[in-house]
Amino acid sequence: MSTRILSTSALVGPALSELGGRFPELRIAAFHSPEWHAALPEAEALVVLLSDSITATDLAAAPRLKAVGTYSVGVNHVPVQACEARGIAVVNTPGVLTDATADLALTLLLALTRRISEGESLVRTGDWTGWAPDQLLGSGLAGKDCGILGSGPIGLAFARRAWALGMQPLFWDREGRGGKVDFELDQAPRLPLSDLLTRSAVLSIHCPLTDQTRGMLNRPALERLPAGAVVINTARGGILEEDAALDLLASGHLGGVGLDVYDGEPRINPRWLQAPRTVLLPHLGSATMETRDAMARCLCDGLAAALSTRR
Ligand code: DGY
Repeated sequence: MSTRILSTSALVGPALSELGGRFPELRIAAFHSPEWHAALPEAEALVVLLSDSITATDLAAAPRLKAVGTYSVGVNHVPVQACEARGIAVVNTPGVLTDATADLALTLLLALTRRISEGESLVRTGDWTGWAPDQLLGSGLAGKDCGILGSGPIGLAFARRAWALGMQPLFWDREGRGGKVDFELDQAPRLPLSDLLTRSAVLSIHCPLTDQTRGMLNRPALERLPAGAVVINTARGGILEEDAALDLLASGHLGGVGLDVYDGEPRINPRWLQAPRTVLLPHLGSATMETRDAMARCLCDGLAAALSTRR
């Protein structure tokens, strides 16, 4: 039997094997491995991870393709326009990872501003000699302006969390959408980027990586932030110019940087590993059991629809 669904990985939960039962046959082969290339000509649906960058050559080698599904909400690693031009559906996982990702952005923010890693290490290394008035003083969040890049579902969910902590959310959005939020206020203004940067004591990135947003937080943009500002990135690495952020951390202009994503990940600029006032995580934004299960269900439902309806 020919391979109809070609996946680069197993997914969390039963959804992918159920899809394979409904549209046999499912094959799992590592991305760009000889097995994967061999199965490509027969494949009607691809399942990839956010680390698998599909190329035009891959698409050309898959004449039967009806759908490309990614186990992520981000689609920056999929040639969406080329797929659309060939009538190939692009399926992702919007909606189901909103809270998990906003929670992780908040975790980074609190860990950074309350110096959680340093405190834990003090205890674990046995170096803690007792409470002291000025020990590991962090900074509070209430009353501060919180700039949010992107007012899609994750940006809005982060705004709710920022509001709950007493911060004032401010939005910039690449599509000019307003920061209309469903907490009791509609008072999260949308600002031009330069104005938002000037005000943001905290800046959290929640927009996709596109041609427009790549390198958007470059040195001049970061220099606009108030001294001591904290930057959080749970979106995509290419949006923040990392060397500029590292320089501004070293100069003291930035008060801290919390990262879950990196340009060229999993390779990490080694300067991050030595940088002060950072919290570094390995792309855990959507990493809860419930979320990864829901992502698999969302993706496989979308692929089933595409396989059923496309000829
Ligand atoms: C996504 O799905 O694009 C997220 O980056 C996962 O954490």
